[in-house]
Amino acid sequence: MYKLLRALLFRLDAEASHRLTFTALDLVYRLPGASRIARSLCARHTPALPVSIMGLTFPNPVGLAAGLDKNAEHVQALADFGFGFLELGTVTPRPQPGNPRPRMFRLVAHAALINRMGFNNVGAGKFLVNLAAQEKPCPIGINIGKNRDTPIERAADDYLAVLNSVYRLADYIAVNISSPNTPGLRDLQTEQNLEELLRALKTEQAALAEKHGRYVPIALKIAPDLDDTQVAAIARLVQEHKFDAVIATNTTITRPGLEQELLSQQTGGLSGRPLKPLATEIVRKLYTHLQGEVPIIGVGGIETADDAWEKLVAGADLVQIYTALIYQGPDIVGEIVRGLAERVQQSGCRNLAEAVQQARQRQS
Ligand SMILES: Cc1cc2nc3c(=O)[nH]c(=O)nc-3n(C[C@H](O)[C@H](O)[C@H](O)COP(=O)(O)O)c2cc1C
Repeated sequence: MYKLLRALLFRLDAEASHRLTFTALDLVYRLPGASRIARSLCARHTPALPVSIMGLTFPNPVGLAAGLDKNAEHVQALADFGFGFLELGTVTPRPQPGNPRPRMFRLVAHAALINRMGFNNVGAGKFLVNLAAQEKPCPIGINIGKNRDTPIERAADDYLAVLNSVYRLADYIAVNISSPNTPGLRDLQTEQNLEELLRALKTEQAALAEKHGRYVPIALKIAPDLDDTQVAAIARLVQEHKFDAVIATNTTITRPGLEQELLSQQTGGLSGRPLKPLATEIVRKLYTHLQGEVPIIGVGGIETADDAWEKLVAGADLVQIYTALIYQGPDIVGEIVRGLAERVQQSGCRNLAEAVQQARQRQS
């Protein structure tokens, strides 16, 4: 069914087909019983495969990566796909239109996308109104960023402002310092800048936990385009500052294996199949430093249960997908979770974490 729909949608510009899909989904969701039917088609066939990290329990380890539901508009529909959690955003303090269109490109032969959206979003105020109006069907992460016109030296002000606004409604918060489409943003990953930012965020988190009587974990989302020294520095800082998780990775500015692809010259971040080896390598390197002390959420190029398993064995505790959902449709979520559940069953272990640990030990 999705294959047929995809053939039609892929005739349109990438962003236009995205909008059309979600407008249609919103219309369908106005009909009584739509969510129940969607669940029975997708989520009902997704087995429970719980994972506990950051003080939260996720019903299964496959989440939606940030950027698809930037404005918290489609929570129920996305949860009905069977995701174990949803990461919404990136949301910035003030609304902003993002970069001029076109700003999203499909590299179909490579199951990849290039985007330079530039944090187009409705801003924290409207985002919260949207989110508050919906039920919370699964754990919700909120991914936060800075406005384009905020100077990079004042970036912390933006992060602290959005952290304050979204804290109440988030199960976890993801700090995005790795989008390639906001000038200067990735400079926040350098050791000195990161040290200051992490310190400020942790201080604010402690104050907010006190104020709201609830500790909301914070994860740091990093780029795949980092050398070994940078990965080591990030690992040391997240440990030192007791960050709750690292999300690895965002899109890449490199173009691995895409020399023959005309569209690869488009400016922006590359996601999907060509990103997978880079992203997995970052997860592996991070894990050698962190050794499970700080959990990792692995993302980048996951298309199958084998890909998800590879990320988990490399060091991830949870995974996320974006691009493969666009190429394969909602069934992919259940397929990945079922494939992982089979691995657990075959291992004879009691849960996913044990099965992954066993596989890691066999590998070393
Ligand atoms: C069109 C598009 C928009 C994205 N927007 C965001 C964003 O706003 N914030 C963010 O942290 N990541 C964003 N991402 C990155 C994804 O969350 C993810 O890290 C990346 O695409 C790698 O996963 P994938 O290969 O499964 O797509 C975006 C990705 C795409 C393709």
